[in-house]
Amino acid sequence: MAGRLVTVDGGEGAGKTTQMGFMREYLERRGYRVVTTREPGGTSLGEEIRALLLGHRDGGMTLAAETLLMFAARAEHLERVIRPVLATGCWVLCDRFTDATYAYQGGGRGLPLERIAVLEEWVQGELRPDLTLLLDVPVATGLTRAGKRGVADRFERENVDFFERVRAIYLERATHEPNRCRVVDASQSVEAVRAEVEAMLAEWLESG
Ligand code: TMP
Repeated sequence: MAGRLVTVDGGEGAGKTTQMGFMREYLERRGYRVVTTREPGGTSLGEEIRALLLGHRDGGMTLAAETLLMFAARAEHLERVIRPVLATGCWVLCDRFTDATYAYQGGGRGLPLERIAVLEEWVQGELRPDLTLLLDVPVATGLTRAGKRGVADRFERENVDFFERVRAIYLERATHEPNRCRVVDASQSVEAVRAEVEAMLAEWLESG
């Protein structure tokens, strides 16, 4: 049986990495084999592309280049990691996926969402996540948390309005796809979020 693709997404400082660790433990305790990975990244070329995307450069980067690089990394990731791993029956737990492109390049930067949909069709074909956990946190709270982590990357330097638009697109997508997307209030304590995420996973596993 093919594995499942579970993605975890959200704005800055939502606690994705911490909760992904708990999710992995939870799924493994239930006997699933799980590979964790991230976007942009997850392959050697993908990690090089990530460094280009997150690093600061004189003159910045055009929105087209940024979006195409996200999908270039994704194409590698899908072909070399995600699809092969799913075919072995293992689950893939991915830190960010295409919802992030809709939210950041679409919402944050204003790229028409139809352009992203075209790239999504091309690069992914039919493949969509089986489940997406959206860790939702008010922008100010998330930015304060993320600000404690050291030097800000090219996205973390954006302003509050940018992140409000990012958040709005995430929530809009979750509203339109309630079967795939589950929203958890990530402004709670780490343990409270963990409990909610585990309850959501239990219910999702039960249902199908
Ligand atoms: P991370 O810091 O959560 O690992 O993600 C790296 C940054 O890349 C984050 O600020 C969001 C951004 N990003 C996009 O803008 N579009 C995308 O498609 C992805 C996957 C990430």
